[in-house]
Amino acid sequence: MQIKTVQTTPFQDQKMGTSGLRKKTKVFLENKNYLENFIQAIFNVIDVKGKRLVLGGDGRYFNKEAIQIILKMAISSNAKEILLGINGYLSTPALSFEVRNNHFDGGIILTASHNPGGMNGDFGVKFNGSNGAPAPENLTTAFTEESKKISAFQTIEMPDIALDKEGVQIFENTTIRVVDAVKDYADFMETIFDFDVIRALFKKGFTMHYDAFNAVTGPYAKEIFENRLGASAGSVVNAEPLPDFGGRHPDPNLTYAKDLVCLMYSENSPDFGAAADGDGDRYMVLGKSFFVTPADSVAILADNAGLVKGYQGDISGVARSMPTATPLDRVAKAHGWDLYEVPTGWKFFGSLLDAGRILFCGEESFSASSSHIREKDGIWALLFWLTILAKTGKSVEQIVHEHWQKYGRSYAVRYDFENLTVQKADEVMENLRQKLPTLTGQNFADTIIEKADEFTYTDPVNGAVSAHQGIRIFLQNGSRIVFRISGTGTQGATIRLYLEKYEKNDFSKKATEAVQDLADNAIKLASLKQIAGIDTPSVIT
Ligand code: G1P
Ligand code: ZN
Repeated sequence: MQIKTVQTTPFQDQKMGTSGLRKKTKVFLENKNYLENFIQAIFNVIDVKGKRLVLGGDGRYFNKEAIQIILKMAISSNAKEILLGINGYLSTPALSFEVRNNHFDGGIILTASHNPGGMNGDFGVKFNGSNGAPAPENLTTAFTEESKKISAFQTIEMPDIALDKEGVQIFENTTIRVVDAVKDYADFMETIFDFDVIRALFKKGFTMHYDAFNAVTGPYAKEIFENRLGASAGSVVNAEPLPDFGGRHPDPNLTYAKDLVCLMYSENSPDFGAAADGDGDRYMVLGKSFFVTPADSVAILADNAGLVKGYQGDISGVARSMPTATPLDRVAKAHGWDLYEVPTGWKFFGSLLDAGRILFCGEESFSASSSHIREKDGIWALLFWLTILAKTGKSVEQIVHEHWQKYGRSYAVRYDFENLTVQKADEVMENLRQKLPTLTGQNFADTIIEKADEFTYTDPVNGAVSAHQGIRIFLQNGSRIVFRISGTGTQGATIRLYLEKYEKNDFSKKATEAVQDLADNAIKLASLKQIAGIDTPSVIT
């Protein structure tokens, strides 16, 4: 085994976006030392010598090779310990749990989340700190800056390290520990949820269908839903992680989880339908012929916290990302909890959770979680739903309808305009920005604009300021539209338009129809056709 220093030229495009460094897989494959450069930048910034890190990935193409590269770099730099799941697989929530549970210094996740995998798909690198949360902006900026000036990286010549079973191996000054992360995570879930309660539900004949998209959650879902909770064999489908996710786009929403949606809207649908994304932090919930929006879901979970064993204490506050519709606000108000509105991206919840200001949080992009870890957590959300269903004996649809009757309904829909050039997308936003001062009082759809602004967030705990987080237009009838540019794309730019229409009594509309008028007016207001030559979204969720 020989340690060697390899000269390298820095890359100028290694910027961490909403959730890490995310690029086409080919960028990693075709640019010599692309991964090594960025990992060395991270190691330099955190001073990896003597540090203990968790390392894992969602199983996508290049995961296996990347893990070996990183392990060898860590050994050559005298990291103290690296903990991995078997075969290097870890879901994002499981990684956050392992970092926290073992009191490690941080973790590296290899994933591009819900983006497709494979040679022609995407790959990514994310760093989480010792609290298990995605690194804050000052740290990700430091990684980027370091990656631009790096001139060498360090590695060690040695054979690949076996990761196929639990155990400890020591190389130089570094301990490599492989754990059964599925068991660890499942055991952890049993400390939060009463598995007997859910087991009794399945015993009564309750049926579930979970699509793991051939991504990382398959083994977790099999263990938890089928083995421990007694869902019938075959309730979890596409459970085997594959490097290309079976060629599908592992994003659990109405567009990409087509098979699941068709099944749930068919005559003999199971009682509960669910899916998670590539790395297991996003989730989707459906009942029989019924879809639960993520904004309703997090509000319903929070409202029913009292049903869950792990949430019997006082709740001080809850939080949602700014573009997420407002059902959670109404629940918070009813319970007297503080409500925080943060920019898009899970990292912003971290400091609120660390400070004990919030217990639950969620985003419109199919995610929710609590203080149990510092990432969003798909399987956790499903166990929460199953607990509610088991304890109330009601169906998913009944639970949601009763929620609307109590609080009113936010029809919430997101339009994505993908594949714009960065320049056009910036132009659209700049044009809106210029218009902001003139908007108040203008007619908009069947109402009037009450207020319009660009969202700037000041973290109430550490004072960090994040500007340009989206343009918001509030309407007099309680509806709202938001425009922002996606921070997770790997090609061109995507403009997201978030539409929310509040209804107190009428719950019978189709969401897309309920917001149609808002959408038409928003597209006009943003001059999308004139500036970017586009007026229909490529994805609606
Ligand atoms: C998207 C979602 C955001 C989520 C992020 C990572 O980011 O909108 O809520 O936190 O993916 O999963 P965006 O592409 O909008 O920047
Ligand atoms: Zn994800």
